[in-house]
Amino acid sequence: MSSRQSSIPPGSQAIPPQQMPPDVSRWGEHPSTYVVQDRTNGAELARLALQDTMITAAMGGVLPDQTDPASLRRLLDVGCGTGGWLIEIAKAYPTIKLLVGVDISKRMVEYARTQAEAQEVSDRVEFHMMDALRMLEFPPRFFDLVNQRLGNSYLRSWDWPKLLQEYQRVTRPGGIMRITESEMSVESSSPTLTRLFEVALAALAQAGHFFTPQSRGVTGDLARLLHQHGLQQVQTKSYALEYRAGTPEGDLFVEDMQHLFRTLLPFLHKWTRVPDDYEALYQQMLQEIHQPDFVAKGNMLTAWGRVLGSIDQPESDRPS
Ligand SMILES: C[S@@+](CC[C@H](N)C(=O)[O-])C[C@H]1O[C@@H](n2cnc3c(N)ncnc32)[C@H](O)[C@@H]1O
Repeated sequence: MSSRQSSIPPGSQAIPPQQMPPDVSRWGEHPSTYVVQDRTNGAELARLALQDTMITAAMGGVLPDQTDPASLRRLLDVGCGTGGWLIEIAKAYPTIKLLVGVDISKRMVEYARTQAEAQEVSDRVEFHMMDALRMLEFPPRFFDLVNQRLGNSYLRSWDWPKLLQEYQRVTRPGGIMRITESEMSVESSSPTLTRLFEVALAALAQAGHFFTPQSRGVTGDLARLLHQHGLQQVQTKSYALEYRAGTPEGDLFVEDMQHLFRTLLPFLHKWTRVPDDYEALYQQMLQEIHQPDFVAKGNMLTAWGRVLGSIDQPESDRPS
């Protein structure tokens, strides 16, 4: 497809194969733009499952910013990971007729389907393998709400315009586009965790995931992007999240960090200079975050708006 499919930002040199991280060539797919390069990685699946629980709990629920979720009929979640967010919505709002999750990773999609069956919502919840950077294989004006959470992990700044256009295309007039992103750094009582986040930020910036080189995420860009794409009634809600040792969310956060700074390593090597003592730093970080007084704070932001047009539209068929 277009240059959007490449993980090499415009203007930079292609990496010679001998300098690629060891596993990339055997995946037989175009290189992922996601921060975890191996789509079959089991540790990443485990990490996303716990991160989903942690974030939904810390934000106070699945759709804390929406006034009337029960009025929605069809929902799409792009980059749905393990599917937990969508499954929770299906359980909380039995009147929602169809909930669709798409993800580039076959492993995530298979896991999400199993979960939907185990939690007895598979009659309304579907998961499909799809690359959001190509096109969303749904008819126009199909969904009442299109959701994206933590897409900054695979979207480069130049990917947003086309993707937001696709979201608009598949959302019915009057429907909602909803995007939640996290700052890619946390304030914490662990100086080594702070240091490792600095390495991750450098890699993300170098790979093109931020709109300005000094950014620490895209939360500050979301409202602007929605306005620029003609969304109406744009609103935002910010979340200051706190993770304390000994609380359920705090324990999940510790586990998340433990996985994250392992699974992220090929991406860090690809895009930045990884400190020679990375392994020692990682071990030091683990010690610090396991302290009984450990605390970390992070920020998330949800921005949403309505797609222009009248709200009453005839129903179209389910996609085959
Ligand atoms: C950080 S996870 C977020 C998962 C979920 N949205 C959540 O908030 O718990 C990002 C997800 O995006 C998926 N992903 C990466 N690149 C993608 C692409 N091009 N199209 C669709 N999904 C993609 C990954 O496989 C991963 O499951």
